Amino acid sequence: MEIMDINQLQKQFRDFYGDSSESIRVYFAPGRVNLIGEHTDYNDGYVFPCALDYGTYLVLRRNNSDNLQFKSADFDYETSVKIVNQFSKHGEEWVNYPLGVLQEFIKEDIELHGYDLMYFGNIPLGSGLSSSASIELVTARAFNEECSANFTMVELVKIGQLAENKFVGMNCGIMDQFAVGMGQKNAAIFLDCETLDHELVPIKKSDYKLIISNTNKPRKLIDSKYNERRSECEKALEMLNRAGDGFKNLGKIDWHEFESLQNNITDPVILQRARHVVSECSRVKRAVDALKADDLILFGKLMNESHDSLREDYEVTGMELDTMVNEARKVDGVIGSRMTGAGFGGCTVSLVHEDAIDTFIEQVGRLYKQETTFTPAFYVAEIGDGAKRLV
Ligand code: GLA
Repeated sequence: MEIMDINQLQKQFRDFYGDSSESIRVYFAPGRVNLIGEHTDYNDGYVFPCALDYGTYLVLRRNNSDNLQFKSADFDYETSVKIVNQFSKHGEEWVNYPLGVLQEFIKEDIELHGYDLMYFGNIPLGSGLSSSASIELVTARAFNEECSANFTMVELVKIGQLAENKFVGMNCGIMDQFAVGMGQKNAAIFLDCETLDHELVPIKKSDYKLIISNTNKPRKLIDSKYNERRSECEKALEMLNRAGDGFKNLGKIDWHEFESLQNNITDPVILQRARHVVSECSRVKRAVDALKADDLILFGKLMNESHDSLREDYEVTGMELDTMVNEARKVDGVIGSRMTGAGFGGCTVSLVHEDAIDTFIEQVGRLYKQETTFTPAFYVAEIGDGAKRLV
């Protein structure tokens, strides 16, 4: 992944917007990769993501108008939005992410001023590495400072999620925004999505590296399939609660409890969905313990089990993700491989011995392409910091 040169970004900004006596500042928010704990966040369960060292850069400068000038350096898109009490949605454009964030600032009575803004991204869009949360949090982090709004980072994370749920209309959980906002270099975040209690668990230097493999499969209808899974989980909880136990969420039911109650779920598909969520939350806790005990082999085994559960019970993988994972697991030196993010395409994450990285990229790349016709892309993931100001 190409590292961005900040001087170059500022130059590109000035070339486009011209010179002014106001100072230019640069903010950054990363993408994220989830190591384990998929489709558990909206069930108030556990997740274990980390921030990447690539993401979205926002270069900005105050202008003397009532307008927010948005420009993407990556697409041919620019627009001018007048600051009003209620922004309107701009079709399916990426500018809805910053506008959704700024809408929440307005609701909190933060006074906005006109700015010239230029966004640069180096996360592949739509690849399941949270490019949208990255745009939300870079905007939230920047305007928090520019408008002296004094929100805490956790408040900014919640603002990012509200932007997505209310303005954009995607009913996501809190994981992506939390990882992007609260990430720390060389650590993964063990997060309880109900209470937001969290622990940063160091990823120590080892012979194993995290490789992200992008299926490059165009993803379609993800939002509707995602929302369908959410409502299936609600049904599962309702059925379990008919037995009278008054559970608040699926994510906190322990496996033994679930085993004794599962016959209350009469629909086989709903039962599968619930079994994934309950077993996945248990796997997250065991994976965190394994990492703390430096037991990467167990960690990798739990990653494999997570993928298999997402394939068999949650049915969110699909041919491309399964092919990528199957080919990865055949390479000597791979100790775990799973899909990451919402699924239905996007990326996998694999734990690979450093001596096997070249073979991995050559062999998995070749066989995946043969079997699916899509050309994949591979990145050795570096774990970076959450949203911050650079200049
Ligand atoms: C997407 C959502 C997250 C989470 C994952 C699945 O990335 O934005 O909130 O639900 O899918 O784990």
